[in-house]
Amino acid sequence: MEAEQQTDQPLAVQAEDLHKSYGDNHVLKGVSFEVKPGEVFVLMGPSGSGKSVLLKQIIGLEAPDQGRVRINGLDAADQETHEKFKTALVFQAGALFNSMSVFDNLALYLREHRMYDEKTIRDKVKRVLQVLSIEQTAKQFPASLSGGMRKRVAVARAIVMEPQLILYDEPTSELDPIRAATVSELIATVRDETNVTSIVVSHDKDLAKGIADRVGLLWDGELIFNGTREEFTSSEDDRVRDFLNPTINPSNPRFRQQRNSA
Ligand SMILES: Nc1ncnc2c1ncn2[C@@H]1O[C@H](COP(=O)(O)OP(=O)(O)O)[C@@H](O)[C@H]1O
Ligand SMILES: [Mg+2]
Repeated sequence: MEAEQQTDQPLAVQAEDLHKSYGDNHVLKGVSFEVKPGEVFVLMGPSGSGKSVLLKQIIGLEAPDQGRVRINGLDAADQETHEKFKTALVFQAGALFNSMSVFDNLALYLREHRMYDEKTIRDKVKRVLQVLSIEQTAKQFPASLSGGMRKRVAVARAIVMEPQLILYDEPTSELDPIRAATVSELIATVRDETNVTSIVVSHDKDLAKGIADRVGLLWDGELIFNGTREEFTSSEDDRVRDFLNPTINPSNPRFRQQRNSA
């Protein structure tokens, strides 16, 4: 496969019958899905359903007990696969360096990897700041920014690496609903401006409604739904409807879960 060698094209991701347990806790129970190059796949599910565990199998931080993840056909559990491709992960909290300006936070990866001369690095960082409309933060320090702005900077730092695959873990957490809507726009901007495949992991149903090409719903370790966002919002499946419109029924496991995690 020649596509394997190209480092500027969006990647294809396939999960095949993934199983993962920790002791007696069978977290992933045979999860399969496919994300095509350039698509935005939003993987939803209640808290504790195994979303972050699934991400760890994709980035190769852990290997599944059974089944595999393939990235452009190569096994994600092999470190060599990750050396071939550029993958970026946007963490829940952003993980920015507070001792450095926003500009230097963005330039750090490119400088450390000596990928370009300093002039090119500065141009690339400026371009990303522009794309995400955060030029005014360049000289500021992360701690002085609002939560929404920090989120933008965290995304900017990921895309400056020119990734072929970007993974977002709960990108709207810690943000109020209005900010959460701008995260959808942010992910859409990244998709439109870069050559990237996006996998967004979230319990925030508004994200799926806004930007997803495809939506997966993880429920107790199984992918109980996989389809377009139109199919998702019009699904007749009780669990999908319940996820989208939780009813206040104390015997409903979803409701119990929300109460417990609140
Ligand atoms: N490293 C680990 N060791 C043991 N249990 C884990 C580990 N990582 C996750 N789990 C368990 O896997 C389940 C799913 O967790 P997680 O994927 O973080 O859920 P979420 O869907 O909220 O991201 C939870 O029961 C969690 O306790
Ligand atoms: Mg999680």
